Amino acid sequence: MKELSTESQLTKLNNYMKGFKAVHLINIGRKLGILEALWEAKDGISAEELAFRLGLHEPYLKIWCQTAYCFEILDCDDQERYKFQPYFGEVLGDESSLNYRGGAVNIAVNVTGQRLIESLDYYRSGKINESYPQQRSEIVSDSTRVLNRHIGFYLSAMLPQDDPIRQKMNSGAQFIDIGCGCGELVMHLAQLFKNSSFVGVDPVSYSIEAGSKKIQEAGLEGRVSLEKMGGEEITYEEEFDIASMVVTFHEIPPDIRSSVLDNAYKSLKKEGKLLLVDFSYPESLNDFRNPAFEPGVIDQFDETSLGIIHLSARQQDEMLTKTGFKDIQRISVQGMDILNATK
Ligand SMILES: C[S@@+](CC[C@H](N)C(=O)[O-])C[C@H]1O[C@@H](n2cnc3c(N)ncnc32)[C@H](O)[C@@H]1O
Repeated sequence: MKELSTESQLTKLNNYMKGFKAVHLINIGRKLGILEALWEAKDGISAEELAFRLGLHEPYLKIWCQTAYCFEILDCDDQERYKFQPYFGEVLGDESSLNYRGGAVNIAVNVTGQRLIESLDYYRSGKINESYPQQRSEIVSDSTRVLNRHIGFYLSAMLPQDDPIRQKMNSGAQFIDIGCGCGELVMHLAQLFKNSSFVGVDPVSYSIEAGSKKIQEAGLEGRVSLEKMGGEEITYEEEFDIASMVVTFHEIPPDIRSSVLDNAYKSLKKEGKLLLVDFSYPESLNDFRNPAFEPGVIDQFDETSLGIIHLSARQQDEMLTKTGFKDIQRISVQGMDILNATK
């Protein structure tokens, strides 16, 4: 371990403060279209030209650019033209990139930040914050879009060609996504796997309405539908080849988790597959400082006042086994586990 000193701890705190402000700077840049304009202007653009194009107040925009330069998000040439530092364009400018993180910044500032400010009373009372605005589900969707594309990539390219899930998706699977939010995953998969049909269920009516509208706009209503329903209310029996839960299992209240898993199990055909993508929470103190667990540790903190309780890998496996699932396979990618199990 590095030697600690007052100086090193002050530096650590300053870096946290700087990160907090950098995240806000990026959020401002995304909301005002600055990031998009910088991504388009590959050879660089002056603050003056940026302000003109976007109809923004030039002196403020200049300070934004200078600060982004200070944070080493932007570079600047001797003609004061700004552009993304190498590799930052794909992270903050290119929405089609699997490395794009604009949605993560959006949720950090516009959902989590507000919730953490409001969490003080819940720390005192131990109550659960039930006043979560449904409209925030669209920001959640924005933040999970890249993850859902990664899942599409996992199913269509990472799994071996002879993997039964990949084969089934290609030949034509019946697929249910439990906790589908606004239907990001089912829509994306429907575009990748033209022979398969998809149902998404979620208890939040706003998400179902917003997602159904997008499905219609994309002309996918023949193969994709969403239903307002919690996993504990599912009544399908032996209907699906694959059931998924993407960053949903940890959000299901502990008292109904096993009934959701039971229903997922029942909804699957014989030898059907469960695909669970979620965080696994550390069980040993050492692992709280293990970078592999960091996203889950931080997500649990973010969602404390919602009464959400994350599960460890062992607890997840135990629940799946108790439900009847077999052949549980798990891979970890950047702090997120992809789990598949067979009925
Ligand atoms: C973090 S969001 C993920 C949404 C979606 N899977 C995605 O990737 O964008 C978790 C979702 O779980 C849903 N959820 C909460 N309780 C649920 C339950 N009892 N059954 C099914 N879904 C539930 C929430 O409404 C929310 O849409």
